[in-house]
Amino acid sequence: MAHQGNAWDREYRNPLLVTKNDGPQKDTLRFLKYLKKVEKYRVEEKNILDLGCGTGRNSNYLADLYNKVIGIEISKTALDIAKTRAHNMGVSVDYRLGDIGEKYDIPDNSIDVVLDITSSNSLDEKGREVYLEEVQRVMKKGGYFFVRALCKDGNQNVKNLLKMSPGKEYDTYIMKDIGLTERVFSRTDFLAMYGKYFKILNLEKKTSYTTFNNRIYKRDYWLAYMQK
Ligand SMILES: C[S@@+](CC[C@H](N)C(=O)[O-])C[C@H]1O[C@@H](n2cnc3c(N)ncnc32)[C@H](O)[C@@H]1O
Repeated sequence: MAHQGNAWDREYRNPLLVTKNDGPQKDTLRFLKYLKKVEKYRVEEKNILDLGCGTGRNSNYLADLYNKVIGIEISKTALDIAKTRAHNMGVSVDYRLGDIGEKYDIPDNSIDVVLDITSSNSLDEKGREVYLEEVQRVMKKGGYFFVRALCKDGNQNVKNLLKMSPGKEYDTYIMKDIGLTERVFSRTDFLAMYGKYFKILNLEKKTSYTTFNNRIYKRDYWLAYMQK
């Protein structure tokens, strides 16, 4: 499935799934609140890495809070929207066209907070291994990592997709309408994978409803707060 850049770019040119919303993602705001309340940590004047930053809704918001933000995104269409929005907001973000499943041009131990808001689901196993190693490498010790990823457990729609439209790799299915392969995670797999690299501070499951091709789908997500 390589990096699936073409499928994502097609999706941004004619959006069926991604949001057109330009405000920060609600779960991102909850994560920031958690850091402030529980960890006594303010995400201001920090170095942030936003993986698969899309149209920049989280990157631009964080840049507006005086953070230095790098956003990596595979779709040029999305990145152009992100840049225009940043310009309109009067903020500056280091937007980079690139693959989060390949090595990052970022120094070791330099990033305070990493966001992966539903992006690494699109990686294949090889890319995921690079992503995990790279995030761990670029993060400062004690830095925070927020992952929002698709959850497999207890979701009938996921069960059907895995059966009817399986991808080549373990726990993947192909979303036929947009030609995109997605990886879903059981709780056990999620904990084993990330636990190898990071300390897991909090893991919860959250249900959202997405309208896709005029049908409503129940999507379950893992929201993971982690630390290096
Ligand atoms: C569901 S969207 C979420 C976008 C953004 N994080 C947000 O919350 O608005 C997933 C994003 O990941 C990007 N993406 C997928 N695979 C990628 C890869 N290998 N490298 C970089 N970006 C990727 C997609 O183009 C898309 O913008």
